[in-house]
Amino acid sequence: MKKILVTGGLGFIGSHTVVELQNEGFEVIIIDNLSNTTIEVLDKITAITNLKPAFYNFDLKDKKSVQDFFKNNKVDGIIHFAASKAVGESVQIPLDYYENNIISLTNILQEMKARAINNLIFSSSCTVYGQADELPITENAPIKPAESPYGNTKKINEEIIADASKAHGIKAISLRYFNPIGAHSSAKIGELPIGVPQNLIPFITQTATGIRQELSVFGSDYPTPDGTAIRDYIHVVDLAKAHIAALNRLLNNQQKNNYEVFNVGTGKGSSVLEVINAFEKVSNTKLNYKIVGRREGDITAAFANTTLANRELGWKAELTLEEALLSAWNWQKRLKN
Ligand code: WQD
Repeated sequence: MKKILVTGGLGFIGSHTVVELQNEGFEVIIIDNLSNTTIEVLDKITAITNLKPAFYNFDLKDKKSVQDFFKNNKVDGIIHFAASKAVGESVQIPLDYYENNIISLTNILQEMKARAINNLIFSSSCTVYGQADELPITENAPIKPAESPYGNTKKINEEIIADASKAHGIKAISLRYFNPIGAHSSAKIGELPIGVPQNLIPFITQTATGIRQELSVFGSDYPTPDGTAIRDYIHVVDLAKAHIAALNRLLNNQQKNNYEVFNVGTGKGSSVLEVINAFEKVSNTKLNYKIVGRREGDITAAFANTTLANRELGWKAELTLEEALLSAWNWQKRLKN
């Protein structure tokens, strides 16, 4: 049984990927410092798959802990999710973001180099494209100056991996996520924003349950059909399955280059108002929202050209926006307020 290390494996995308890894027969080891999640997620994963992943609670910035881990654990691949990921927060505390997101990665890469560990999958983001000149966005779209320190850490981390792959032959894939949303069908795991949600979907579901009074729609003067901004919302379970496809490509030596990059989205753009309407339909609720000014740093539109991932990974998003919104709603209703 292949053993896969999942850093940040108790987080939103990490936990859904752990479930899919276990479903595919992989043995999973999780490292998570619980800075943006809770230990209960480990029990929820176990409840879904009846398989309890091994769990290590330490900070990947701590080089000694990382070295000790790899001294005692032989792994066949690593999926690296662990990172600080709040765009707005990264503007307030950029040094913490550079320290956390970059040192965690270099500590892992140093161990991969020292121990000839191959097969790294990195959690990247479409944020590296900024406002792309052409839509849908392909992997060859120019990388734009980052709009936030968070986005800059994704850009820098991709470059670090590319250099390490070139210099030391480490096989790696970066997956550039579009907008992950939704929850596992069991409603046992999902997006767990701490404090006021920054992202659209958790704010919608919290408004629908009355935790939030009203959703603010950030801008209706964008050059889009209904004036609100467009994004590519991908069900987190489809996204998790893309990691399995990428991992199998690495394990089966199917790569064309030692370092590859793939967009992971649905290929379909939805505006904020379209998302609201879809949510009202699937939840049979009326959402309380108001149009306000644009949010600083937001782009008009982003949605993926998924041809490369479809062809090379043999992966395609299968779940619809409505299914993702319903799963997010079911998850929210299960959460204690
Ligand atoms: C989506 C749309 C908002 C909240 C960011 C990061 C990306 C990834 C996902 C981490 C935008 C609008 C939102 C609200 C609104 N992060 N909106 N009212 O900004 O596309 O992407 O989160 O991995 O890297 O860049 O996602 O959900 O914040 O916003 O109108 O209360 O919803 O303006 O148009 P975003 P989002």
